[in-house]
This record gives sequence, structure tokens and C-alpha cells, in this order.
Amino acid sequence: MNDLAPDGPFNGRSILVTGASSGLGAAAVRRFAAGGGQVFAASRDQEKLAEVAASCADLPGEVRFGPLDVASAADCRAAVAATVAAYGRLDVLVNNAGRHDFRITTDVTEDEWAADIALNLSGAFFLCQAAIPHLLETSGNIVNVASVAGLMGEAYSAAYTASKHGIVGLTKALAIEYLKTPLRVNCVCPGGMDTAQVHTISVPDGADWELIMRVAAKRGLMSADSVAAVIAFLASDDASAVHGTIQTVDQGHLAG
Ligand SMILES: NC(=O)c1ccc[n+]([C@@H]2O[C@H](COP(=O)([O-])OP(=O)(O)OC[C@H]3O[C@@H](n4cnc5c(N)ncnc54)[C@H](O)[C@@H]3O)[C@@H](O)[C@H]2O)c1
Repeated sequence: MNDLAPDGPFNGRSILVTGASSGLGAAAVRRFAAGGGQVFAASRDQEKLAEVAASCADLPGEVRFGPLDVASAADCRAAVAATVAAYGRLDVLVNNAGRHDFRITTDVTEDEWAADIALNLSGAFFLCQAAIPHLLETSGNIVNVASVAGLMGEAYSAAYTASKHGIVGLTKALAIEYLKTPLRVNCVCPGGMDTAQVHTISVPDGADWELIMRVAAKRGLMSADSVAAVIAFLASDDASAVHGTIQTVDQGHLAG
């Protein structure tokens, strides 16, 4: 870490961000680095992670990166170990990696269902499991990334919606299990963001557009940085009293 931000909110803090090679994960890496944090950016694409790290070169914090397929429990444990090896401690885990595919329910194969749940739910569990002993040592915290699909139904998204509801449940379960410790566990539920997930998603043949459009953002797509700002707040000491919260960041999408 260089010495440009001795008073940054994440100065001396070690932060693991998953799915950090693009979109919200990359924006979160930049937020933490801007606040003086020592960030470990993990994802599958090392070339893109190198670009994210390079984009933080002028920020006060430090960004290192390494491989992670969140669908592998062994990779999840290795990413936590790599962060602790890099910085000697772990203060914050951001479970951000995820992917949304529209699929007609009756077309979903067993392999697709299992892959969606592994990527969008089980990985977050295994990362929490590996991170918690370290976070208990540092009085650290976890920020999970769900979605408005963690609180409402979305058509052609049975596995994604079920897994994001699972992320909300995981957050609440851990919040209660660790109630008597200093560990904090919170969750953000973003609405539509201007990221690759939205721009690369395809609609299956035969899908009903009226149902698809129910998920459309009423105020347009948010920037990833506007959601990363809320993640950074929840991870910071300013949110020291915030525990077990399911925070929507959706420009009113769920207001009715
Ligand atoms: N974009 C939206 O409108 C929106 C809305 C609500 C929630 N979300 C959630 O926000 C999170 C970030 O998504 P985004 O919008 O930035 O999309 P994105 O596609 O830009 O980013 C997803 C990230 O997850 C990574 N990833 C995917 N599969 C992975 C795997 N197996 N192992 C490790 N990393 C993997 C990707 O490489 C990428 O870095 C996801 O959990 C997504 O479900 C997105």
C-alpha cells in the first residue's frame, strides 16, 4: 500500500471481492482501493483482473488478484487463503460473483440447475465458511450480493431467483448464528445495473415479453458504482450497527 490515504476508511483493512473482473465487482474493488484498502480481486479471467488492478494504480490502496471459480468449493477456500497470505488478515468478504440466464423452466437440465445454484449460492456459502474464522479475528464483516430477484419472482429465472432468495436467507442465518460475536453480515439487493450481465443476457425462444419486461428498471439502469458505494458503506465502520440487513439498491423497483 502506498501512503496517499492514511485516513481512508479501509486503511489497513484486507478485502476479498469475488467476481471482481467486471461490473459491480470491479466497481467495488475501485471503491475499496480509493478508501485505502488492501484488496484481493478474485475471478476467473486474470487478464481482466489485471486491467481492473491497473485502473486502481493511482488510488491509495493496493490491489492484488488471483483465480477463483466460485462453483468450486476448493477454489473458494483457496481464494480466502490467498487473501490472508497476501495481506496477513481478512477484514471484509464481498460475495459478488454471479450470473443470470433466462431459461424456460421446463427446458432446464439437471446440470444447468446444479451449475446455477453452485455459482449463485453455494460458492457464497463456502466463501463465508472459509472466511468466518479470519473475520472473527478482525471483527470483520461480509457483504453478500443478492438481487431484487432475492425478494421477488422473476420469470424464466427459477434457479437465479431461488439462489438469490438463498443469498438473502444465508445472510439472515449467519446474522443470527454470529449474533454474539462482532462479525457483521449484510446483503445488498440491486435492481438493474449497467453491466455485462444485463447486456449479454438472452431471451429464450417462446418467452413472453410482457413477463420479461416486468424486471425492467423503472428509472433505467444504475451505474455499478452507485451500488458499490452502498457495499462500501456496509463494509465500513460507519455501518458498525448494521447487521443482518437486506438492503435494496433498486431505484424504487420494489416500492410497488
Ligand atoms: N446487472 C444487474 O442488473 C444485476 C442486478 C441484480 C444483481 N446483480 C448481481 O450483481 C453481481 C455482479 O454482477 P454484474 O452485474 O456486475 O455482472 P458482470 O457479468 O459484469 O459480473 C459478474 C462477475 O462474476 C464473475 N463470475 C461469473 N461466474 C463466475 C465464476 N464461476 N467464478 C468466479 N467469478 C465468476 C464474472 O467473471 C464477473 O466478474 C452478480 O451477483 C449479479 O447476479 C446484477
